[in-house]
Amino acid sequence: MDMMNGEKGSEQLQAQAHIWNHMFNFINSMCLKCAIQLGIADTIHHHGQPMTLDVLVSALQIHPSRAHCVDRLMRILVHSGFFEQKKLAPDGPYAYVLNHVSELLLKDNPSSVSPFALSMLDPLLINPWHNLSAWFHNHIDPTPFEMVQGMSFWRCAGQEPRLNRLFNDGMASDARLVANVVVHEHKGVFEGITSLVDVGGGTGTTAKAIASSFPHMECTIFDLPHVVANLEVSKNVRCVPGDMFEAIPPADAILLKWILHDWSDEDSVMILKRCKEAMSKGKGKNKKVIIIDMVMENQKSDKEMIETQLFYDMLMMTLASGRERNETEWAKLFVTAGFGDYKISPVLGLRSLIEVYPL
Ligand SMILES: C[S@@+](CC[C@H](N)C(=O)[O-])C[C@H]1O[C@@H](n2cnc3c(N)ncnc32)[C@H](O)[C@@H]1O
Repeated sequence: MDMMNGEKGSEQLQAQAHIWNHMFNFINSMCLKCAIQLGIADTIHHHGQPMTLDVLVSALQIHPSRAHCVDRLMRILVHSGFFEQKKLAPDGPYAYVLNHVSELLLKDNPSSVSPFALSMLDPLLINPWHNLSAWFHNHIDPTPFEMVQGMSFWRCAGQEPRLNRLFNDGMASDARLVANVVVHEHKGVFEGITSLVDVGGGTGTTAKAIASSFPHMECTIFDLPHVVANLEVSKNVRCVPGDMFEAIPPADAILLKWILHDWSDEDSVMILKRCKEAMSKGKGKNKKVIIIDMVMENQKSDKEMIETQLFYDMLMMTLASGRERNETEWAKLFVTAGFGDYKISPVLGLRSLIEVYPL
């Protein structure tokens, strides 16, 4: 390798810059976390008009010794697309405004992504990444998470109320956004179903949204006991604690939102078989499993979307023994579990709606 050659040198420097960018990608994540914790989006929103740096610093109640650092935080947040800047007058100062991304960080926005971001960026979920390479040499621990915590993610959530709350709140925030889209824009998926169990339904956000859109449907929130303890239910929503590997309450339809990507192929087939047993005891005619999960490589995606799907696949490996799947891999699960036809609708951003029918 000729280090002195001009051409080679510039290529190496470009390669170095590429590595630096990836080395410090975590700074984007941590600046996002900081922005959420400081409440920057809410502060600009409550101001009701573009907010100059001085006014923002004062409203955020930043310690005076740190005031001069806020513009640097805002500069990277603007660069990464979280806020916009505009001039109040041709020779006036710049002021910050929200865009459609920062609107999703607002506390009062029912679709807020902030609780999910705070759960995913918690040290408990970040620490396992420091053990990824050690895990590749280890054949005992199923996941890097287990290597660090000495127990599975789900058991840990059952033992640590802070993790349980943080994770359930994060999931509920995602469920609010997705359930809203599903019940308003893809209502047809639920037509003709008289009973539905949301398996691994968390604290019930999705089941409650479906139940209120379909008042004649009996909806069941089914999850581990520590998740569904003390849940409020309503007229056509009930709540059942249990383990989906043992038995699932009977229903015509089963919803699996963000469940199967948490599990290996063997475990996923087992869950699907339990779904089939539950549906065989359902009294209605329209039987199906409705899956909300990613289908890799199934649509024209840009580089950022593909990268995000790859991030999720690694996340599932690191926290939960799961994986993201392409259509062939999904189809193999359905056939192995004894299902017939399936239909994939790539209508939920990075995720798809998958309907799977019994034979
Ligand atoms: C990724 S979360 C998805 C939550 C919810 N479906 C959503 O998308 O908002 C996975 C859920 O599966 C639940 N879960 C894990 N193991 C389970 C089991 N053996 N039986 C029932 N639920 C389980 C977890 O408690 C958690 O609520």
